[in-house]
Amino acid sequence: MPTYAILGATGSTGSSLLKYLHERPKKVKINIYARSASKVESLHPYTRTAENIQSFVGDLTSANLLKECLRNVDVIFSAVAQNYNEPGCSVAQRTAHTIVDALEALRKEEGSSFKCPILVFLSSASLNPTFWNAQPGLAHFVLERGCHYIYGDLRKSIEFLKEQSWIPLITAEPPGLTDDISRGYELSENEVTPGLSYDDLARGMVQMAEEEGGHRWVGKGVTVKATGSVKMNYLVLARYLMVGLIAYYLPPAWAFMQRAGLVP
Ligand SMILES: NC(=O)c1ccc[n+]([C@@H]2O[C@H](COP(=O)([O-])OP(=O)(O)OC[C@H]3O[C@@H](n4cnc5c(N)ncnc54)[C@H](OP(=O)(O)O)[C@@H]3O)[C@@H](O)[C@H]2O)c1
Repeated sequence: MPTYAILGATGSTGSSLLKYLHERPKKVKINIYARSASKVESLHPYTRTAENIQSFVGDLTSANLLKECLRNVDVIFSAVAQNYNEPGCSVAQRTAHTIVDALEALRKEEGSSFKCPILVFLSSASLNPTFWNAQPGLAHFVLERGCHYIYGDLRKSIEFLKEQSWIPLITAEPPGLTDDISRGYELSENEVTPGLSYDDLARGMVQMAEEEGGHRWVGKGVTVKATGSVKMNYLVLARYLMVGLIAYYLPPAWAFMQRAGLVP
């Protein structure tokens, strides 16, 4: 049975990945990484008894913890991320560096028997020029500013990961995401839809990792296109963007927004 790792199993993408892999008939072993055991238990109570799921809980920067989580896995889904445009945010870069450190340690330890897992790294359609150019000018203006720090962080992480040519990398590049059920999807390198459910993103990321034994999409930036009618929650997206625009034009306001409980 193959083993898949899900990093960020308490987030929206990570949770959808875990639920989908847990519930679908094709069984795999699942190693999950999260920073809070109580959050894992409350969101995914089945992890306490599921024999095919193992939890690794601790600090993101612990290469040792990640090393154990990634030992003998076939696929890594990296969904440690943030949606708030926090000035100077670096969570994607820290995740990328810890993954690489952990894989390097395993490579050293295992020598010629080491087989590098496929890494499916959560990114954004906005970072892919093909998808970006399909957006209207106003969306460019708002997203460039309202997601400025998040995109900078993602861009640097992906540049760093691409330098590691020994890691088979797929970047998952979704459009606007929403908490909706699965309504149908397809993978694409050329066309993007405006919105997508987290459930379809999870299905798409799993397909990226599994199609043609995992090699169909390696080295590519791939989006998940919605083929059904997605029920978007535009209020949530508008809130992220409003907060993001304030942080872009007035970075010191971040501390005030934190104190007011508007951002985590
Ligand atoms: N929202 C959209 O419409 C949209 C569209 C396209 C692309 N994206 C991209 O998707 C990503 C957001 O994904 P998401 O919505 O799944 O995020 P999310 O729900 O906020 O989940 C983030 C996950 O990362 C974990 N995490 C964050 N900081 C951490 C840290 N310092 N140490 C350990 N774990 C940490 C969180 O843990 P806790 O649960 O403990 O906090 C959580 O498990 C962003 O990169 C964004 O650019 C979003």
